[in-house]
This record gives sequence, C-alpha cells and structure tokens, in this order.
Amino acid sequence: MAKIKEQVIQALKDQKEIFGDDLYGKIRKTEIVKEVPEEIAEEPEIAYESEDWKNARTLDELESLIGNCAKCPLHKGRRNLVFGSGNKNADVMVIGEGPGADEDMQGKPFVGRAGKLLTDILKAINFERDEVYIANIVKSRPPGNRTPFPSEMDACMPYLLKQVELIKPKLILCLGLTAAKGLLKRNDTLTNFRGKVYDYFSGAKVMVTYHPAALLRNPNWKRGCWEDVQAFRKLYDEMKG
Ligand code: URA
Repeated sequence: MAKIKEQVIQALKDQKEIFGDDLYGKIRKTEIVKEVPEEIAEEPEIAYESEDWKNARTLDELESLIGNCAKCPLHKGRRNLVFGSGNKNADVMVIGEGPGADEDMQGKPFVGRAGKLLTDILKAINFERDEVYIANIVKSRPPGNRTPFPSEMDACMPYLLKQVELIKPKLILCLGLTAAKGLLKRNDTLTNFRGKVYDYFSGAKVMVTYHPAALLRNPNWKRGCWEDVQAFRKLYDEMKG
C-alpha cells in the first residue's frame, strides 16, 4: 500500500514538473471578452502589406509603393523613408549603409557631412553627383546610426535589387563594409573587398571602398579611398570605350 502511495505521489510530481502549477491549484481565470476592442477588431495593416512593388515599372512607382513599408522595426523610428536619389538612368550607382539623422529628416541619401565628402569624392573622379544614382542598403534610419542588423538588411535588400533592375547601372560602388556585405552577400573584411572587381548578377561590375563617414573619422584612409575611386573611374572609362 505504502509503495502504491509513493508511486502515485511520484507520478503527480512528474506531471507537475511537466505541466507546472496550472493543473494543481493555481487555476488561471479565463477572461471573457464580450466585445472585441476596436484596435484589434481588424488585422493590423502589416498583415495585408501589398507586394505590388515587385511589379513596379519605374523608380517613381516603386518609391510610392514602398513609402509606408513596415517590414522591419526600423520603420517605427523613421521620419522619412530614404528611397534614393539621382539619375534614374545612371551608369553608376553608389550604395551606402543607411540614412543618418540628416537623411532621415530630409528623405534624401547622403545629405549630411559624409554626403558632402561623397560629393567631393565623386567630383574628384569627374562625376557630378546628379549624374549617378545614390541609395542605401537600408532605407530607414537605424537608431543612433548603429549598423543595421542582418534581418533589417534582408528585409530591405529586395527593394535595392529592384532599383538595380530598373536603373541597370554598369558599375556599382559600395561604400563601406555593410554595403559590400549586403550587396555582394558574402562575409569578408573591407581590406579584402577593396581592390577587386566583382561581377554582379545584373551584369554590373561592383567595386568597394571606404565609407565617407569612416574617412571623416580617420583621414589616413583617404589615400586608399583615392586609389580605389581612381580604379573605379578607369574601369568606367574602359567600359564606356
Ligand atoms: N551614411 C550612409 O550610409 N548613407 C547615407 O545616406 C548617409 C550616411
């Protein structure tokens, strides 16, 4: 008899371990909600987010279709989605990491201090800023200008790929490691990415250099950047014949 009692107690202990207190004493009170509160009466908008942008035929159409994108949490903190700007038929695309405070405020890429330096770098290799198309890996500002998370980059990349498909650039310049990793889909160091020419799936050639914000922090890198962009210009001239 004592043995059976012991076995029953052990079995109950095991069940308690598996199911917790709910079965034993602490019965959870089920709240009966008679009316569905208004804010959850409809499914949130995000559940119906349209994928029509995939069929966009122009950059303007694409921009208007993704303007309210909420595919990653970055949308919560943005003032403006920074789509991209410049020549819609550009031979050259320049890709940065993501909007900073100035870009978020104005809705345009590279308008702050790093943007001014980028304009100067482009000028130094005989490109006017509005001759090229400038965009970023992510289109919403990461809080405190942190590096975007891989999940945020993955959520935004299809838009950039669609921009590449519509613009059909011959050459793409990635600014910094995040842009290189995001676009080339491989993990490497900036040192290894630099000084090489990559064939992109769209037929474009890709090169990588420093991000202008990094050059502002470390002017010693300007020399390396100068070499990179000269090689980029040379490649452009060769491609144009
Ligand atoms: N840095 C970026 O990577 N992109 C911008 O648009 C501005 C600063």
